[in-house]
Amino acid sequence: MANERLRTARKNKNDEFYTQLADIEEEMKHYKPYFKGKTILCNCDDPRISNFFHYFSYNFEHLGLKKLITTCYKNQNRDLFSQNDCEQAIYLEYIGNKKGGNVPDPEEIGIRHLKGDGDFRSQECIELLKQADIVITNPPFSLFREYVAQLMEYNKKFIIIGNKNAITYKEIFHLIKDNKIWLGYRNINKDMWLVLPEKEEKYEKLIDGKKLKHIMACWFTNLDISKRHEELILYKNYNPQDYPKYDNYDAINVDKTNDIPCDYYGIMGVPITFLDKYNPDQFEILGDSRYHDGKQEADDINIINGKQLYRRILIKRKRGK
Ligand SMILES: C[S@@+](CC[C@H](N)C(=O)[O-])C[C@H]1O[C@@H](n2cnc3c(N)ncnc32)[C@H](O)[C@@H]1O
Repeated sequence: MANERLRTARKNKNDEFYTQLADIEEEMKHYKPYFKGKTILCNCDDPRISNFFHYFSYNFEHLGLKKLITTCYKNQNRDLFSQNDCEQAIYLEYIGNKKGGNVPDPEEIGIRHLKGDGDFRSQECIELLKQADIVITNPPFSLFREYVAQLMEYNKKFIIIGNKNAITYKEIFHLIKDNKIWLGYRNINKDMWLVLPEKEEKYEKLIDGKKLKHIMACWFTNLDISKRHEELILYKNYNPQDYPKYDNYDAINVDKTNDIPCDYYGIMGVPITFLDKYNPDQFEILGDSRYHDGKQEADDINIINGKQLYRRILIKRKRGK
């Protein structure tokens, strides 16, 4: 029991880092047409700290939003909105500045109490989820699978941040493969620096008094985006020397996404970063080197001359593309 609590505490600690406003702005600018008249839910966001709350409350009128709902897990911080560090959380509802202007007026931000701690899985938070058109946040990485499963169950549109490793989680990968979710605009290789709580002693950079940590994170969404329809220009030709086959699977290995041969229509193993360039009209995802046959425990197939390569995604070109 004590061990279990320790594990949970350690996990939660790893979830405590906050998204920078510039990163939110950079991604959200691509989705503006989706926001008009919509209810946005940020359900892992302490409004005192959350730049998601900041972005959507300050841009409420500009984006033409209908409503912004923000739930604050465990009321962690003593602040304007929360009373204490307690098991009863609050949530906020904002429907814009009715007095004119577009700076949020604290008097117009409806603060309401939740019965529980604001866990996104609780029934009362699910009721708020049902009201939402689009869910936008950086959820706890340790609960990413459950978080996404819940969004899928309630058929919600979303734009969320997750660890890049989440791509390889079986449940998430299958959603990507089935074209139910995909990566957002931000380049998968571009670093994301997240802000640590003030009390945190270990950090990698200090900028404007903010303690920053580099996290391998990227955006996941199920809103259709133009990037997903851009065709990857292929210029290399296939030859068996540059593109050897795996020892244990009938597919060629491609080390760099840009090197995908323009004249090969068989199965290819490509790096995970391929997903950044994935256009479902041009390619089909068949599996990954671990889950290639759909079985969880399938052996990795990415072996060449007895040497195991990095994890690969198995793809095929679509004919005529
Ligand atoms: C990665 S942080 C991001 C915070 C904020 N969304 C942002 O981007 O700045 C994830 C947040 O989820 C909160 N959280 C952890 N478990 C949660 C749960 N079960 N339900 C809702 N929020 C939770 C954590 O307290 C943490 O603040």
